[in-house]
Amino acid sequence: MSTPDQQFAFYDLHPPMDDMTAEVCSGMRESPKKLSPKFFYDERGSQLFEAITRLDAYYPTRTELGLFDAHLEEITQTIGLDSCVVEYGSGSSLKIRKLLQALSPSAYVPIDISKDFLLHNARTLAEDFPALHVFPVCADFSQAIALPPQTDGMHRVGFFPGSSIGNFEPEPARTFLARVAGTLGSGGHLLIGVDCKKDTKTLELAYNDPEGVTAQFNLNALVHLNRVLNTDFDPQAFAHEAHYNESYGCIQMFLRSLVDQRVDVCGEHIHFCAGERLHTENSYKYTPAEFGQLAGSAGFDIQRQWLDDSNYFGLYLLRAR
Ligand SMILES: C[S@@+](CC[C@H](N)C(=O)[O-])C[C@H]1O[C@@H](n2cnc3c(N)ncnc32)[C@H](O)[C@@H]1O
Repeated sequence: MSTPDQQFAFYDLHPPMDDMTAEVCSGMRESPKKLSPKFFYDERGSQLFEAITRLDAYYPTRTELGLFDAHLEEITQTIGLDSCVVEYGSGSSLKIRKLLQALSPSAYVPIDISKDFLLHNARTLAEDFPALHVFPVCADFSQAIALPPQTDGMHRVGFFPGSSIGNFEPEPARTFLARVAGTLGSGGHLLIGVDCKKDTKTLELAYNDPEGVTAQFNLNALVHLNRVLNTDFDPQAFAHEAHYNESYGCIQMFLRSLVDQRVDVCGEHIHFCAGERLHTENSYKYTPAEFGQLAGSAGFDIQRQWLDDSNYFGLYLLRAR
């Protein structure tokens, strides 16, 4: 239990292991086989993602940071001070520090599935911002999440950077945004970063960096499953692949089986043919018009939108109706 003036309180709403097992097994029975991108993120996966954000090939993070730097004053003036910032998929991003410094919120609720990484980063932030109440929530943001009661009655500001919205299929993206609008309440703001459609070469390079960090990140999902669900994937028997699917408007990421093999997944023998692919991520790209339509259908109005000079990335300030 936390007292009202307590600066730090952790809420562990991580889905039960049985739910994760059932989700992984059901994905392995599909054709093509599928794994949710949330399984990328154990502590090592979160560190690898941080490494990706620093790569030359990975333009989204530096482009989004440039948009923050250019427009933070306007964002602050529009939102106002003294709010509660709720970050979906918080990781350890630099972006939140800029936002916290500019907005001076009363409370910050980072939500993430990667528990150890979340706790470590939330504690560091609480030390660095001693006047800020920090209430980390370990949860799957694709499910409904009750926010900590300490934030009741505060003006809520959602923060969803990094184009993580692109990991949802378009209809689940709408459902997710509609749920966020409900959580923030009428008049609540959502600051969201969304990757734009662009030429295939730039997109594919961002997910096939020459250093091979994205490949390690993709393969780490198997190491994560072996550790938490006791599966026996051999990561060396799979290879990273990422392509832009122009007709869907998304990057699709796979692990291709290099050999004919059998994997024990929670007591089931799953067969992979040589060359068969396990689908690990979709990352949808949206033109500003497409994203405007998605946000509108989920109960948000666009208050402001900013694009960089190359039209690579969009930052949108939405307001729940
Ligand atoms: C692409 S990273 C973005 C990190 C950071 N917000 C940024 O913009 O750089 C996605 C983050 O969301 C978290 N995440 C992914 N799927 C999730 C889910 N279903 N529920 C909660 N957190 C999730 C990951 O652990 C990771 O920290």
